[in-house]
Amino acid sequence: MAKAVFHISGSTKPLRGTIEVRGAKNDILKGLAAVLLTRGDIAYTNMPDIEDVRRTLELLKSLGVQMTDRTTRVCTLNASHIKGHILRRDIAEQIRASIVLAGPLLARQGKVRFPFPGGCVLGKRPIDLFVHGWSAMGARMRLVGDEYEFSASRLHGADITFYKVSVTGTEAMMFSAVLAHGTTVLRNAALEPEIPHLADFLNSLGARIHGAGTPTITIEGTDGKLLEGPGQFATLPDRIEAGSFAALVAARGGKVKITSCNPEHLAVPIEILREMGVRVTAGKDFMLIESKGKLKPIDMIKTREYPGFPTDLQAPFTVLLTRARGASLVFETIFEGRLAYIDDLNRMGAAITICDPHRVLVNGPTELRGRHMESPDIRAGLAFVIAAAIAKGPSVLEGIYKIDRGYEKIEMRLRRIGVAIERKKS
Ligand code: UD1
Repeated sequence: MAKAVFHISGSTKPLRGTIEVRGAKNDILKGLAAVLLTRGDIAYTNMPDIEDVRRTLELLKSLGVQMTDRTTRVCTLNASHIKGHILRRDIAEQIRASIVLAGPLLARQGKVRFPFPGGCVLGKRPIDLFVHGWSAMGARMRLVGDEYEFSASRLHGADITFYKVSVTGTEAMMFSAVLAHGTTVLRNAALEPEIPHLADFLNSLGARIHGAGTPTITIEGTDGKLLEGPGQFATLPDRIEAGSFAALVAARGGKVKITSCNPEHLAVPIEILREMGVRVTAGKDFMLIESKGKLKPIDMIKTREYPGFPTDLQAPFTVLLTRARGASLVFETIFEGRLAYIDDLNRMGAAITICDPHRVLVNGPTELRGRHMESPDIRAGLAFVIAAAIAKGPSVLEGIYKIDRGYEKIEMRLRRIGVAIERKKS
């Protein structure tokens, strides 16, 4: 079967115009999972039209969740009557966020079974924090074939300290604790904007979550009582998409307004762009990026949990640093295996030295040359689109399903600001 590929013609022509940011994958997937804790209508808006949302909706439907009013960016779900506790293997294996459904399902059904969660291959991606948290809340784990099964007739509150900060780990325990018996305290919780957003949403339905957005979250459980609808979940703008667009414009040069975003969620990346000599005008819900393409290097970009520099922007900014005059260090502290794409950038003409599995030194400026490439994961895939857009000559990018998992019709939106990109059958 013919697969879709991107054909991208690189250029130095400045980018111009306006590009709109869609809702965040990492926000909507948790919002969708939350429906399992409720029994009223939940209306979702600003949903990105991406593969991971489609797969999650399929998983929810297979559990008996009713869907109405579905249009491209809107739908209403109702989970009054759900059945079963097994996440369909064929779908769950494709998306890492499938594990987010496990938290509410365990809390509601007293049992959940799921295969090792799929998604981007970023190092080991273990689930020990989930195992630790659910065990502390009274769940028992067993392996059924190569699937995990957790069960507990009623989860109870617990005092849980995460030995390392985890976004989905924090969300999963928050979900489970909402219906538990008693109070749960989560310590060293993640601070990503999606977490207080999710807590506010659950609280609007009657949950009692305090402190979300700080390292200590307290949840008073409802002892099994489902949250009441109706409710509304307005998906946050995708800060990773907005930051990637900013890196593209900074690298290629030009003047582009990025709209429907929240620059407050991008404080560190914006500061880095400014340090590099890019002009960034930030409003409440837009950013104007102006770049002449003459860029200064950065001592070090170190990925960190929010509000630090996001690991999901590491690859796009590494591409950008190939344009800077001098050496910049990129230090990936969150995931091992998230620098595997560097070899491809070097084959395009970048001069990046791999120091160790977590650090690379980018020497610039270098002129990239178009190539035939394969998208390694969602975020590095978009970084390759950026690399191809600033390179000399044509590139072909395969494996674009991985980009479609997280970014809605990216080629159509990038074309409007001047990137020559086409989706074709290979
Ligand atoms: C989420 C985001 C992803 C982002 C990442 C870090 C979603 C759907 N995905 O992924 O886009 O790149 O946060 O910002 O929201 N870890 C363990 N044990 C566990 C769980 C995690 O050791 O049980 C480790 C991971 O391997 C990693 C670190 O903790 O080294 C942080 O990962 P985590 O925050 O859990 O990432 P995700 O929530 O999977």
